[in-house]
Amino acid sequence: MKLIDSRNITKILTFAALSSIVASHARNFIYHMALKDEISKRKTFGIISHPDAGKTTLTEKLLLFGGAIQVAGAVKSNKIKRSATSDFMEIERQRGISVATSVMAFEYRGQKINILDTPGHQDFAEDTYRTLTAVDSVIVVIDVAKGVEIQTEKLVSVCRMRQTPIIVFINKLDREGLDGFDLLDEVEQKLGLNVCPLSWPIGMGQRFQGVYNLYEQKLVLFRPHSKQQEDVIEITDLDSSELEQHVGEAAAAELREEVTMITEVYPDFDKEAYMTGNQSPVFFGSAINNFGVKEMLDCFVEIAPTPLPRAAEERSVDPEEEQFAGFVFKIHANMDPKHRDRIAFMRVCSGKFERNTNYLHVRQNRKMKFSNPTSFMAAKKTVVEEAFPGDVIGLYDSGNFKIGDTVTAGEVLHFKGIPSFSPEQFRYVNNADPLKSKQLAKGLEQLMDEGVAQLFIKEENGRKIIGTVGALQFDVIKYRLEHEYGAKCEYEPINLHKACWVHSEDDKAMKEFLQRRRRDIARDKHGQLVYLAESSWSLKMVQENHPEIAFHFKSEY
Ligand code: G4P
Repeated sequence: MKLIDSRNITKILTFAALSSIVASHARNFIYHMALKDEISKRKTFGIISHPDAGKTTLTEKLLLFGGAIQVAGAVKSNKIKRSATSDFMEIERQRGISVATSVMAFEYRGQKINILDTPGHQDFAEDTYRTLTAVDSVIVVIDVAKGVEIQTEKLVSVCRMRQTPIIVFINKLDREGLDGFDLLDEVEQKLGLNVCPLSWPIGMGQRFQGVYNLYEQKLVLFRPHSKQQEDVIEITDLDSSELEQHVGEAAAAELREEVTMITEVYPDFDKEAYMTGNQSPVFFGSAINNFGVKEMLDCFVEIAPTPLPRAAEERSVDPEEEQFAGFVFKIHANMDPKHRDRIAFMRVCSGKFERNTNYLHVRQNRKMKFSNPTSFMAAKKTVVEEAFPGDVIGLYDSGNFKIGDTVTAGEVLHFKGIPSFSPEQFRYVNNADPLKSKQLAKGLEQLMDEGVAQLFIKEENGRKIIGTVGALQFDVIKYRLEHEYGAKCEYEPINLHKACWVHSEDDKAMKEFLQRRRRDIARDKHGQLVYLAESSWSLKMVQENHPEIAFHFKSEY
């Protein structure tokens, strides 16, 4: 038998090694291309508005376009009505419904669109702030009659902090409202947005005839009582007499004049400026009549960002990275008090998430597998096998997660941008049943992990203070402590205006500040130092007296 000479063996081994490298590169390449393809199809956004501006109605119309729901009214049940302000039991009941609609996904023009629901009730604003950390863009709904309202201002300021791209939808044009230009001025001044109208209304209320789509140069006519709400007519030249035929002489003249003004006053649409939150396209319409919604949606799918990179303390994480990473932005308690399990909502930030795979729970430094990751699609719950950047999945949790937790394929990462904001209302919390102090401590800890409210512990005497955005949460906490943890609490009033996270590079100044203001110093759940200001006046005084100390209204700065 002829022996294979050693040079041939080396050649064979080299060839085998090379083929395996090539195969592995090919696999990686295919994986990467598939991941890229999935990412390019996704748009994850939130709709924000002051209650009653039309967020629920608009959400529903978008879902109808995508075929995710068949009937109007399907989303309505998610809405916590304003009449429920004092009825927290009703809110508890509705919490169950809102889990199902936390994420509503639909497909439109080959794209997978995820709408993350934001609670309209202002007492749950903190929940909305956190959800905004998981979106890549937002649509702001404004009522044409009411203009920019307070809740919208607060929510938009949170988006602006993160340079989130914003589209504005001015709703209820079938009713009389403010003049279009006055509204745009208000949006610029109160919301601090640079606007760029991409559609313009022709009349309003009784005289509402439709909109001129400046983006596509089309006239879209409103047919209030016909089944087909829109007639779309291409008019590339507004000087054409065709315009008069459709809207009449007076409206045609007015539209021409207004469009000329728009071109003179407002800049052209600049996608780059939109993507960095420096320009906001504006659309006009009537959500209830499904009018002007399609124009906005068509533009949205074209311009809205696909999943964007996310900042972690260690580095920026790109969605196209091979390795999976995600963060928990919302935790929802189970409605059944006998089962204390919860659902943690996780946004996938990079790579592919797979069911039954070992992942690292970074804060706890331990491996975890998820056997029932769930997607929530307008009341339909399904177990998902895999998820991609931009997707949100629900993870069943028995108390392992806190808001802001990071899960990865192995790397130690901490996603940033999930700050706590200063609460608006504060109360001391006392134990009302000395035999149940352990239960109270555990209940409070878990409710705070869920983000129901914030807990501050005073440095001076260890007393606990609960801070919330709305008064309703105090009732919710008391009720849940009793029903889920068997603990009883009592509240005691405390006169506080704001909680400010304090920080200084100057150790000596910090030490002196902490000593002098000891009575007003507390620590938040992460042990960060907080100054509790009694009034805006006292805060101003303290700021003036301690110029070396930085005072922040949110926990991340
Ligand atoms: P929200 O989620 O932002 O709180 O608002 P929602 O969609 O529930 O709308 C608030 C009210 O405004 C609803 O009326 C809704 O029907 C109405 N609405 C929404 N879009 C339009 C529109 O384009 N034109 C007019 N005229 N009304 C609109 P409601 O009476 O409070 O509730 P419902 O009885 O209709 O459910």
